[in-house]
Amino acid sequence: MTTWTARAETAADVAAIRGIVLAAFPTAEEADLVDALRADPDAWIEGLSLVAQAPDGTLVAHALLTRCHVDGEPALALAPCAVLPAHQRTGAGSVAVRAALDAARALGENLVLVLGHAGYYPRFGFTPASRFGVRAPFEVPDEAMMAMALDDSRPVPTGTIRYAGAFGV
Ligand SMILES: CC(C)(COP(=O)(O)OP(=O)(O)OC[C@H]1O[C@@H](n2cnc3c(N)ncnc32)[C@H](O)[C@@H]1OP(=O)(O)O)[C@@H](O)C(=O)NCCC(=O)NCCS
Repeated sequence: MTTWTARAETAADVAAIRGIVLAAFPTAEEADLVDALRADPDAWIEGLSLVAQAPDGTLVAHALLTRCHVDGEPALALAPCAVLPAHQRTGAGSVAVRAALDAARALGENLVLVLGHAGYYPRFGFTPASRFGVRAPFEVPDEAMMAMALDDSRPVPTGTIRYAGAFGV
């Protein structure tokens, strides 16, 4: 079993990250989204683009948190998460996601939102966003729009999510 380690992306990782995202998804949409988010200073937060690497330094997974808002209050959107197909289901995605959440907590962030597989994200602590009174700005199955608070003792805003412009929603 490979031991994946996570770290924040550096400028030298940009091309490899694009390669991972292109390989993980059927179209270039998500890879273009990552690049558009990186170019948007209102969305991009230094240190919240995480990669997981093999012991030899090869990058295999990427998880990205960018700025979004709920009721005008800052929150984070986890999207996309991508793992090279040959290394999926080996824990690399989880290592990248957990590192991203830890980095966000260290920055004092709280509410994190993710639209994704209801079979995957609950392991990190995500539950349906509707339980927080948070809604997607589009029609989506309740269980697919998930949220978590990094610090349960803090209040979270309620309302509709406003994604960064790069999401085009
Ligand atoms: C989804 C993804 C990021 C998960 O990362 P990963 O490294 O493969 O997953 P991990 O090894 O950390 O975790 C494995 C677990 O995830 C589950 N999982 C993986 N892909 C899944 C999917 N598409 N739907 C539901 N569960 C999934 C596995 O069933 C496994 O569950 P188990 O631990 O209960 O057996 C990765 O498989 C990927 O890049 N997929 C293609 C792109 C994609 O769909 N991204 C997510 C967009 S929301």
